[in-house]
Amino acid sequence: MNRKKIIMGNWKMNLTVPESTILIQKLKKEVPVSTKAEVVVCPTFIDIYSASEELKGSNIKVGAQNVAEEEKGAYTGEVSVLALKGFVDYIIVGHSERRNIFGESDKIVAKKAEIAMRHDIRPVICVGETLHEREDKLSKVVVLSQLEASCKHLTGEEIAESLIAYEPVWAIGTGQVCSSEEAEKMAEHIRGLIKSLYGEKVSGSVRVLYGGSVTSASSKSFRKSKNIDGLLVGGASLNHQEFAAIVKNYGEKKK
Ligand code: PGA
Repeated sequence: MNRKKIIMGNWKMNLTVPESTILIQKLKKEVPVSTKAEVVVCPTFIDIYSASEELKGSNIKVGAQNVAEEEKGAYTGEVSVLALKGFVDYIIVGHSERRNIFGESDKIVAKKAEIAMRHDIRPVICVGETLHEREDKLSKVVVLSQLEASCKHLTGEEIAESLIAYEPVWAIGTGQVCSSEEAEKMAEHIRGLIKSLYGEKVSGSVRVLYGGSVTSASSKSFRKSKNIDGLLVGGASLNHQEFAAIVKNYGEKKK
């Protein structure tokens, strides 16, 4: 199955609009146009419109970091899928910071994945175990139960179009990168669950990403992982040289 590689930068709540404009200008110069991978940046909501304008005609796409679970209405402070439509190709749902800091349950994540898909925007469904769960040897159980619950409103066809990001919480922003062997093993389990629920065609099509303290140096180690199709990069995506180096290291070589 030919799955296109993807490198996504999650800028989180780190940049102002002027700062992200500067970063975009630099990325447009440095991200190799020759890359065979898809390259996506996920700015804050307030920056999505200008980022999508600035990136028009480039090989860098725009994604959102979150979306409201409802389509429209009296939801003060939320941003709807209708507002994002036309400006983003991807929406991250269920990032561990949303789950752990803002209390998003699998049920909410499932609704967000569904609403994105219903509007033809690919959800990037994040799953991952905490350090505690890992120490208790619960990683696989936690990840697979989050996955099954978060995908529950999607059809097999829709899952095939979705992305799943394995992001162990203990590796996010900690500098402690998960080894490519361990991440590959989890990606295999993820694909295995998708296969048992939706069949081989879907499990062969869905793209699985790794995220957690990825740097240009560690990005190389994921190149050969058979079941990992991309990287979700936080901190290192804020530095144009680092991010461009990740695209070069990971995105340019064929599997
Ligand atoms: P990190 O974040 O690369 O800074 O660890 C990854 C993420 O949260 O998506």
